[in-house]
Amino acid sequence: MTPPRILVAPSILAADFSNLAEEVHRAEASGADWLHLDIMDGHFVDNISFGPAVVGTVRKHTKLPLDVHLMIEHADHYVPRFREAGANSITVHVEPEAKHDVPQTLSAIRAAGCGAGLSLNPATPFEAVEPYLGNVDLLLVMTVHPGFGGQAFRPEMMEKVKRAKVWRDAHRSMLHIEVDGGINAATAKLSIDNGANILVAGTSIFRADDYRQAIEELRGQ
Ligand code: DX5
Ligand code: ZN
Repeated sequence: MTPPRILVAPSILAADFSNLAEEVHRAEASGADWLHLDIMDGHFVDNISFGPAVVGTVRKHTKLPLDVHLMIEHADHYVPRFREAGANSITVHVEPEAKHDVPQTLSAIRAAGCGAGLSLNPATPFEAVEPYLGNVDLLLVMTVHPGFGGQAFRPEMMEKVKRAKVWRDAHRSMLHIEVDGGINAATAKLSIDNGANILVAGTSIFRADDYRQAIEELRGQ
């Protein structure tokens, strides 16, 4: 099977929020494939970011697919609001602290017309997501503990990426394997070599002088 295309998804968490529309335009004009939006509630993770209103604002400024990463409790309750705000894919966490019924939430995401994603924290074993892989469009392997941008990549998470690739090959599936946290040119290459095809990056794009060059370096161009 042809390997999935490499997609770069800048995470606006690291963007200049006083200039959000301009940041979104710049990321799109620089070759971003998707935009990644990190939603944090101060409960599931120890930080608070933004909600559906900001997703709606980003939606008005780009045609790129919006990849919404919910790091929140009771994600099931909020799925319709993020869909209405313009999400194209919605990723939820598998950990019990996320407090939702995983298969039911994944079905609700698909029923809302979005791509369904499932994510796992560094401390969570691959076995926790494996039973659901047939029902998701995307597996998001966290390569840092979620909550903050700018953390160091954890190379030991590549074991999970490899296992996801083995699963994808065995099932002849189109599952996207996404990595998020500490992604730069070097860790992007390592992730791609292990089977990842979607690269989320905040700091290495939005803190770069040249977004296009940063995005191309992530793709290995
Ligand atoms: C971390 C978020 C990431 C974050 C990545 O909790 O899920 O998407 O924005 O930021 P960098 O690329 O700076 O590690
Ligand atoms: Zn994220």
